[in-house]
Amino acid sequence: MAGKPVLLITRRLTDAVQARAARDYQVILNDADHVFSREELLARCQDVDAVLPCHSEHFSADVIADLGDRLRIIANHSVGVDHVDLEAAKKAGIVVTNTPDVLSDATAEIAMLCMLGAARRGAEGDAMVRAGKWDFWSPAFMVGRQVTGKRFGVLGMGRVGQVAAERARGFGMEVHYHNRTRLPDPLEKGAVFHDTVEGLLAVSDVLSLHCPATPDTTGIINEKTIAMLPDRAILINTARGNLVDEAALVKALQSGKLFAAGLDVFRNEPGGNPDLAALRNVFLLPHIGSATEETRDAMGFRALDNLDAFFSGGQPRDRVA
Ligand code: DGY
Repeated sequence: MAGKPVLLITRRLTDAVQARAARDYQVILNDADHVFSREELLARCQDVDAVLPCHSEHFSADVIADLGDRLRIIANHSVGVDHVDLEAAKKAGIVVTNTPDVLSDATAEIAMLCMLGAARRGAEGDAMVRAGKWDFWSPAFMVGRQVTGKRFGVLGMGRVGQVAAERARGFGMEVHYHNRTRLPDPLEKGAVFHDTVEGLLAVSDVLSLHCPATPDTTGIINEKTIAMLPDRAILINTARGNLVDEAALVKALQSGKLFAAGLDVFRNEPGGNPDLAALRNVFLLPHIGSATEETRDAMGFRALDNLDAFFSGGQPRDRVA
């Protein structure tokens, strides 16, 4: 290829990442940092060799079909790739990469924040003090659930799940998990493996979701599966909103079947779910699992590493299609 490859970066990345990209690529930026409409995305992708998108850009089969002939690689700035139709990309001969590992610590931290915020009524307490409505204290006031000594259930023991389990051990929790395949002994670190989702649910005082969003996992937390959890369990979701049937979750939080939920992701993003937001016993965050300075740099650099490998004729380390 004559000259530097042309790279579209769909969202504003850190200065360090953008500077490195500008050094090695002919970069098209989105300084306004707005989410491109389908038409804008397609128009901008026509004359580029590569695109570096986030999970906010959807490369569905019909978008991929209209991408034109020039684009050769979608180097995602995300570990999740449910916003890209991988089969369609494969058929179109477009390479797809993601950014695993580098966000596991940050996302596991947010899972812990969600767990503690939900168990200890963090949102309620914060709102009360801020609103100047804290005018009472008693031993019966704002009592939550202690997580120490409870069972921490991990659904999806991949990289993030394993770090979350490690953090939960730090709180004296007993780790249980379900995964498609059992982890080898050294990685399991004493966690109890359940070969069925149902088996895991039955013992999870806190259930933390860490599986990818696929057709098989969409709605995996629903009325039927929530009923399998111990009474007054806590649900944590830092993975993807569509794992959860939110109407069923609202019902379970209203009835007291679930003590609380801590959620960083929603079916409708950005925005969330007003029925969930109306509840007292939820701790809500705006999809910030990987949003730390360190991790944003690392994600951007990892996406660029994948691009560099591809354009120097090698195999990108994080190729997923
Ligand atoms: C991911 O990397 O998948 C996070 O959800 C942020 O996009």
